[in-house]
Parts: sequence; C-alpha cells; structure tokens
Amino acid sequence: MPGTSAIDHRAMDHLMRWFDMHQRRMPWRGESDPYRIWISEVMLQQTQVATVVPYYQKWMRRFPTIHSLAESNTESVMELWQGLGYYSRAGNLLLGARYICDQHQGHFPQTRQEALRIPGVGEYIAGAVLSIAFNYPEPAVDGNVIRVLSRLRAISESSPSRIRRAVADIVGLSYWEFEPRWVNQAWMELGALQCIPHPACTPCPFATVCMAFSTGKVAEYPLGKKKKTLPLKRGIIYIVRRDNRILMVKRPAAGLLANLWELPNVFDDDQDPSSFLERHNLTPLSVSYGTVRHAYSHFKLTCEVRAAELSGPWQSDRWVDHRWMSNTMLAAVGKPKLHIMALRKSGF
Ligand code: ADE
Repeated sequence: MPGTSAIDHRAMDHLMRWFDMHQRRMPWRGESDPYRIWISEVMLQQTQVATVVPYYQKWMRRFPTIHSLAESNTESVMELWQGLGYYSRAGNLLLGARYICDQHQGHFPQTRQEALRIPGVGEYIAGAVLSIAFNYPEPAVDGNVIRVLSRLRAISESSPSRIRRAVADIVGLSYWEFEPRWVNQAWMELGALQCIPHPACTPCPFATVCMAFSTGKVAEYPLGKKKKTLPLKRGIIYIVRRDNRILMVKRPAAGLLANLWELPNVFDDDQDPSSFLERHNLTPLSVSYGTVRHAYSHFKLTCEVRAAELSGPWQSDRWVDHRWMSNTMLAAVGKPKLHIMALRKSGF
C-alpha cells in the first residue's frame, strides 16, 4: 500500500549495510561540529560532492570557526565562493554566522524552529544540521531523498510540497535503533549513487520491496515533474586590455551575482543594448575569442567574447565600480563562472 507507514526494520538493516559498503569518503563525513556540517550542506545544495570538496577545504582553512566567518566581509566570502554558483548562498552564510553569533553566542541552535530563523536556512539545511551534528531524529529531505522514497512507496501525490511532507513523514519513521545522523546520510547517499534518475535497480538494497520497481514505473517518480525549457539569453563579453591589465567592473550589492567582478558585457534583454558601446565609451576591435555558455537555474546564457578598447573614460550607470586589474588582483576577487571562462578564452 502506498502511504506513510514505517519502513520495516529488515529493509533498514539492508540500507545501513549498503551504506557501510558504498558510502563515499567526504572531508566532513563523521564530523559533528554543526558549523562544519552547515557549511558543507550549504555548499552541497545544487552542487556535486566532487566540486564542493576543494571549496570546503579552502573555506575551513580561511574560516575555521563561526566567529572567524562572522567577523569577515562579503568580499572575502565571495572570493572563496567564486565558481561555485548560486552566490546568494555565500552572502547568507555570512549573515547566518553573524546571526548565530549575535543571537546564540556562536552555538548553532538545536531546534528546527530556531534553526529556521537563520538567514538562508530552510527545512533541508535545518534537518541536515540537527541530525548530522546533534543526532536528532530530524528528517533531511533533499531531491535525492524525495526520488528514493517516492519510488519506494509509489507516492501518488503530485504537488511538490505534499510529496516532500509525505517523504519527511516516512523518513521520520525509519530510524529504529540506528543513529539518525547515519540514517539520513544513508538515504541521501542511496539517492546520489544508486537510486539515480535512470537507475539499474538489481543491485539496490530495496529492489525486492520497491513499489515503483515492482510495477515497472521507476522512471515516473517523483510524480508531477515538469521538464522546464530554460529561456536562452545571448550577449557579448568585452575584453578590454591596457598594458598588462584588464578592465573589470563590479556588480551592485543586490541581485543576481551581487558584488562580483566581471568583464563589461551586454545582453540582448538589457535596456537599450544598441547604444551600449557608445554609452560606455567602448570601441570594438575585430578580435573574437569564441563563445562561452553557462546555465543558471532560470535561464541559459551564450556569450561571444570580443576585444574592445576604451575611447574615453570608463563610464557606466550599471556597474558600481571599475578597476584595471593585473593577473594577481584578478585572482583575488570573486567572479561569475561565465566570466572565468571568458577570461580563460581570451588568454589573459
Ligand atoms: N550523501 C550524499 N549527499 C549528502 C549530503 N548532502 N550530506 C551527507 N551525505 C550525503
């Protein structure tokens, strides 16, 4: 029967054995410092483990404690985060650390209700920190866990919030005598390694009890998923050099990619793209370095990378600052992924 009754003990025993054998090593695995768990889980949202590892290690060298993070600033945090994407996560970590230091003397709160008041902390992060750090029986339901349990129980809901609630209820009944911190990570790991979007089900510890597998409908779960086609934006990124330096411009402190330094650029959906060059005193040169592409959560970008020169002083009402950067300066500031790729293409 589909529904939210407990996963039986034998099945959980299988899962935990599977996890012992297959779990990946991660620098934060086995860690119980809530600060470290919080940072790792925020980095892991929308990002693969292999990408996160070097960022996590660098972060911990730079900000070994929540106090060191709280005393830092947006620029330093963005510099460490550059290339990881979804930059509001980094800004929220800084705000969150300051909040925890101000309101909780630097100790991560130990109830879900209090944790949810931390900037950037939602149900998933709250559950992950409370369970992994403190071993509380709090479900941590991410996309992987939703996929696993919606298949296992053939969850028939089609609204994302109802599916999530049903999954959280089942996870909450799956701890038995196992430690919640390991049960939650086992569910996640099963979703990351075995119960993937197009899985081979025979080696799965749940193959004999999975309702979706028994009816041949694995690929249909979770229900209610619409494939979205992302709108495509086109633009041009300009490489403007002077001696051994390159012109970089700073984005405003609010909005997408806030505070990052980027190359001057124009998109077809900007206001008045046809007068962009003239308004910024730029003259295009005939050199083109090719094309760069990147997908964000809500749109895709394709940009041509071209050379240009300044034919007057730099002027702009779109960027809040500009600087002629050497290679060393460039390495020390946070840049959007697309612009890191453009810089690489240009050979600077
Ligand atoms: N295994 C897969 N994803 C994980 C995560 N976010 N935290 C802990 N273990 C995991």
